[in-house]
Amino acid sequence: MQDLDRLIAEALAVFERIEDPAQLEQAKARYLGKSGALTDLLKGLGKLPAEERPAAGSRINQAKQQLEDALARRREAIQGKKMEVRLAEEALDVSLPGRGLGVGGLHPVTRTLERIESLFRSIGFDVASGPEIETDFYNFTALNIPEDHPARAMHDTFYVEGGALLRTHTSPVQVHYMQKHQPPLKIIAPGRVYRCDSDVTHTPMFHQVEGLWVDENVTLATLKGVLGDFMQRFFERENLPVRFRPSFFPFTEPSAEMDIGCVICGGSGCRVCSHTGWLEVLGCGMVHPNVLKHVNIDSEKYLGFAFGLGVERMAMLRYGVNDIRLFFENDLRFLKQFN
Ligand code: FA5
Repeated sequence: MQDLDRLIAEALAVFERIEDPAQLEQAKARYLGKSGALTDLLKGLGKLPAEERPAAGSRINQAKQQLEDALARRREAIQGKKMEVRLAEEALDVSLPGRGLGVGGLHPVTRTLERIESLFRSIGFDVASGPEIETDFYNFTALNIPEDHPARAMHDTFYVEGGALLRTHTSPVQVHYMQKHQPPLKIIAPGRVYRCDSDVTHTPMFHQVEGLWVDENVTLATLKGVLGDFMQRFFERENLPVRFRPSFFPFTEPSAEMDIGCVICGGSGCRVCSHTGWLEVLGCGMVHPNVLKHVNIDSEKYLGFAFGLGVERMAMLRYGVNDIRLFFENDLRFLKQFN
C-alpha cells in the first residue's frame, strides 16, 4: 500500500506523455489490465490483516477510478489534437477563385431545329407533329405509294412486330394533319425518322422537317419563293444561289430537288459538293391530287406544295461538320464547340 501513491503518480505521468491511442491502451493494460500493477495490489489484499482490508480495498478502487478518469481525459485530448492537425492540413482557402460552373448547351441538331422552326413561324407556318410508329397506310399508301410500288424499296424501312413500322419520313404527318384540318393550312412538322442506313452522311435515325402549304392560290412559284428565301435566311447569305432539279416523289407532281450554291466553297468546287459547286438540300413538289383525294380535299379547288428537308444535313452545312455520326456520339469535346 505504500507503493500506491507512487504507482498512481507514475501511471498519470505515463498517460500524459503518450500521443498515440494504441500506446495508451497498452499503458492501460499495464496498470489496470488482468495482470496489471493495480490488479496485483488488489490480489494482495488477502495478505493484509482483516481489519485493514476494507480501507485498503476502498483506496485501491479509488485509485482505479482515478486512473480510468485520467485515461478518458487523455483519450479525448489525443482525439482533439488529431482533429486540430487534420483541420490545419485541410484548411480551406476561401480567397481562392471558384472552379466555375460547367455550363451546358443545346445540341447542334436541336439548335438547327429551333432555327428552322423560328424562321418558318416568322412567315406564318404552324408547327404540327405525328407518331414515330406508323402504319403502312400513313407512311406509304395515303402518300400515293401503293403496295408493290418500287418507291417502297427505296425507303429501307424498319418494320415493327404486328405490321407497324418506324416512319421513314415526316410526310405521313401531312396526311394526319389534312384528315383533321381543312385548307387553308400552312404547317411544318419536325421530327425523328428512321431508315436502315448508315455511312458518313446517313444514320439510322435522323430528323426531317416536313412543310405543307395548301390553299387556293399556292403555286410552284410560291414554293420557289418560300424555300429560296428560307435558305438565304438560314445560311445568312443574301443572293445565295438556288436551283430546282426535276425529281420524283410519288406524293408530289411535279417533284423537284432543291440545290443551293455550296456554302463551304462558295460555288468554286470542293470535296463537300463533289466539285460541282452545288449542294442538294431538300425534296419538294406540288401535292399530288391522289394525296388530297385520300383526305377528302377538293384537288380542283385547292393546290399545295410540300417539302422535306434533312435537319442533320442543314446542321452539317451550317457548322462545317463532315461526318453526320458525330452528332450522335455524344463526345463532349465535339458538343462543347456549340456552347
Ligand atoms: C423524303 O423523305 C421525302 N419525304 C421528302 C419530301 C417531302 C419530298 C415532301 C416532297 C414533298 P428523301 O428520302 O430524299 O425525301 O429525304 C429527304 C432528306 O432527308 C434528304 O435530302 C437528306 O437530307 C435526308 N436524309 C435521308 N436519308 C438520311 C439518312 N439516313 N440520314 C440522314 N439524313 C437523311
